[in-house]
Amino acid sequence: MSKGKEMNQEFYIAGVSAVDLAEKYGTPLYVYDIGDIKEKIQELRECFSDKYDRTIISYAAKAFASIQIFQLMKEEGLHLDLVSGGELAMALHAGFPAEDIELNGNNKSYEELDLAIRNDIGKIIVDGSNEIPMIRDLAEKYDKKVSLLFRVSPGLDADTHAYISTGMVDSKFGFQVSQVLDQVKKVESSDRLEFLGYHFHLGSQLFQNDIYLNALDIMFELIDKTHEETQLEVKELNIGGGFGIEYTDQDQRKPFSYFLDPIMEKILAFYAEKDQKRPIISIEPGRSLVGEAGYTLYRVGSIKDIEGIRKYVAVDGGMTDNIRPALYGAEYDAILANKYKQPVEEEVRICGKCCESGDILIKNIALPKVEVGDLVCVRSTGAYGYSMSSNYNSLLKPAIVFVEDAKDWLAVKRQTYEDLWALDIQN
Ligand code: LLP
Repeated sequence: MSKGKEMNQEFYIAGVSAVDLAEKYGTPLYVYDIGDIKEKIQELRECFSDKYDRTIISYAAKAFASIQIFQLMKEEGLHLDLVSGGELAMALHAGFPAEDIELNGNNKSYEELDLAIRNDIGKIIVDGSNEIPMIRDLAEKYDKKVSLLFRVSPGLDADTHAYISTGMVDSKFGFQVSQVLDQVKKVESSDRLEFLGYHFHLGSQLFQNDIYLNALDIMFELIDKTHEETQLEVKELNIGGGFGIEYTDQDQRKPFSYFLDPIMEKILAFYAEKDQKRPIISIEPGRSLVGEAGYTLYRVGSIKDIEGIRKYVAVDGGMTDNIRPALYGAEYDAILANKYKQPVEEEVRICGKCCESGDILIKNIALPKVEVGDLVCVRSTGAYGYSMSSNYNSLLKPAIVFVEDAKDWLAVKRQTYEDLWALDIQN
């Protein structure tokens, strides 16, 4: 960090000036602090995979999928939780070991299952009664044995936005607890299919551990019933992801141990009482590994001051690179990266440049005096930003830069105009 820059009060990400990054790569720009991702993984390891044997951490790639993030997760020894043929093709292209991949998804196609089974991925998480015949068919076609978990919906309402609550009875995800055994029994007789166990995911952006503990009670009953009614043993229990992160100072991120300590204690106690070996316990965090590491840099363009009402500050991105405020009413925090630590002077509304009144990134935020050309930096945009980005209004998807130890490098190029019509057929 040069002295002059500090005097200019620029914001730094992992030792690199955000102002320099914006100049070098353009805006809008997604920036990931790789050290932060590694720290989160380390924190998770300390309270989970280093502490207990027979545990698996899978990164839920829907939060942010790119070749370099897959390579990072591979270096860190994590597995991948994927939900589509697209994510799977990308992970294989990135050289991710197929045996460390699990495929989730509530409506897997024959082609997606074909890609998975042909490439020997580690396991498939069955989430629909139509899947077993397709999987059996493909296992025979390729002469393989396929390992399966069954996703169940424990029937619990998570305290989060309705769109990201997934474990309730009235949900498109997972088998009803009362119905899943009928599906599991279909596997019993097949030597091509191996029943590994169960999976549940309660929802996303969760801050309370009690819902996980309540779900375990339901799973324990199911595990007992499985033993009673079949010859099958539950060898793995996957408890999903969902750990919440900080978007603004209103949120308070809980350490991973807040969730995992009581979860593991409860599981260990259950099996100790039975004097049985416990199953492998796996988790699938997405947001909590990459969310807080991400920043989005935008350049301020038009400023519209409506006297007595409010000031709109328009930036050069918006709902195309971050749909979360428009879709979930999600709140974010921002600073002016070129006026970092200057005293706040005004309350403004930060809007995007899409032809859509709902294209508001931050409804109200106090900032130093905002001028055209200032650099807005929104924090905690690392999860479900780029992965949910679009080309609405034919805006270009931003580039992605990784930063670590004062070094920056490109992870994903900015789209070009040509990319916009690359798939069009011209007569
Ligand atoms: N496992 C399963 C089966 C999931 O469905 C999800 C997220 C995860 C793991 C990872 O959850 P996480 O640890 O990231 O909370 N687009 C929404 C989030 C949708 C999450 C869907 N499932 C958002 O921007 O908030």
